[in-house]
Amino acid sequence: MTSEAAPVAPVPRSFEGVPGPRGWPLLGVAPRLRREAFHTQLEGWARDFGDVFAFRIGRRRFLAVADPEVIAGVLRRRPGAFRRGSRLEQVSREMGFLGLFSANGETWRRQRPMVLHGLDPTHIRSYLPAMVEITERLRRRWQEAATQGREIDLLADLMRYTVDVTTCLAFGHNLNTLEASAENAIQQHLNVILPALFKRLLAPFRLPAWLRDKSLDHHVLALRDAVRGFIAQTREQLAARPELRKHPENLIQALLAAAEDGQQGITDEDVSGNVLTMLLAGEDTTAHTLAWLFWLLHANPQAVAQARAEVDAVLPPGGLVRSTEDLARLDAVEACANEAMRLKPVAPVIMNEVAEDAVVADVLVPRGAIVVCMMRPGGMDAKQFAQPQAFDPARWNPEAGGKSMSAAKRATMPFGAGPRMCPGRYLAMAEIKMVTAMLLANFELEEVSAPGGAEPEERLTLTMAPVGLKMRLRPRSAAS
Ligand code: HEM
Repeated sequence: MTSEAAPVAPVPRSFEGVPGPRGWPLLGVAPRLRREAFHTQLEGWARDFGDVFAFRIGRRRFLAVADPEVIAGVLRRRPGAFRRGSRLEQVSREMGFLGLFSANGETWRRQRPMVLHGLDPTHIRSYLPAMVEITERLRRRWQEAATQGREIDLLADLMRYTVDVTTCLAFGHNLNTLEASAENAIQQHLNVILPALFKRLLAPFRLPAWLRDKSLDHHVLALRDAVRGFIAQTREQLAARPELRKHPENLIQALLAAAEDGQQGITDEDVSGNVLTMLLAGEDTTAHTLAWLFWLLHANPQAVAQARAEVDAVLPPGGLVRSTEDLARLDAVEACANEAMRLKPVAPVIMNEVAEDAVVADVLVPRGAIVVCMMRPGGMDAKQFAQPQAFDPARWNPEAGGKSMSAAKRATMPFGAGPRMCPGRYLAMAEIKMVTAMLLANFELEEVSAPGGAEPEERLTLTMAPVGLKMRLRPRSAAS
């Protein structure tokens, strides 16, 4: 009698045997770390050591992975096998913005449905009138610069736009930094806090409180004060209009009503943590994506012509998106955004801590180690994307074939994947499409360039920004 042997699962490799860049005793690779170019440094190491490699920063062990299937496997096994890093959780708690992005376990579980609900497509529809108004403000600002032939600090303007949208939609607060004459305080604080947070995440050791950079405290306290202001204002609204507790109009009302109700375990700390998280997660990501997109568009006039033809056909007179139906018809603009996020993913690295010993690729990774998911290599794979360096929005055309489109999305994952996938993606896409359509309908892109005319430097400070981009616009003549 013959019996078929059951397939034997291959024995995983030990973590210690995985090749990778050499480090120093105690410090690991910390002395050679180029923090603001961490993602390109990782991409370089992947060329030397392959799709899976290991290194240490201080005593912490890291396994870097570049294969999209392996990455998707890690991202989907959350919150069980993998979690956000304990360093991120600690630092966020100290700074007072322990919210959905940095939380784990029960805290994350009770917050996630509420944030997801506040940012779902139905809500985006109800937010649209406010978004149209803010996009109109940006158009006015750029119209003025274009008429005067003035150079635009692209990133600064886009950040004003995203701060205005986030504060308006998530907190019901019309900040209007786009038309405020003075430099806005919230942005100034965010611009300091994000890089400082990133620095602490990659530091070889946690410094004792008395050795940490004190100048940061001022920014953290000022931002917390602003948030306290938003919360106080919302409490007054809830007191004046109790019906808002049942039918909140924005995320902060929903969070506060839940905190007061006490049933869902939402605490006051959850409320302020998430208000700050929305500002941190929603500002740079979307602004940086738009800035990369405009730079790529300027370098690719053919893509501009195609997207503009669509915009001219879809938008009503005045050149602004006014409804979700308009948004849904902007496929070519969306394709440009997908292509920009493939070439320039603003979150090129997603780090996950191993909650219990886990097998990743063919490696047994010990509890407490960090799995570093490298998000760009999958989108640059020539087997999946012909001429991967080229900006070619046509590859995202839905008519090009449903199967290849979903495979392309699986290879790029700009918003992450699995249970912790970005809840702000619908809002972000709506913002990106509204601003891009407004630009194409109203202006000619005369110049989008970095200092010296070179390709902009990619600077990583939690998100990946193009450095020093300036833009010049010309009003589009009626005849063009
Ligand atoms: C182009 C713009 C954006 C990009 C590329 C982006 C990307 C990402 C990525 C890669 C993650 C991690 C996902 C994962 O771990 O699998 C994330 C998480 C998150 N994003 Fe976004 N994001 C964008 C805009 C926004 C906006 C506008 C908001 C809200 C206003 C937002 C709120 C969040 C939050 C709260 C999380 C944490 C989710 C969790 O851990 O459960 N994001 N985002």
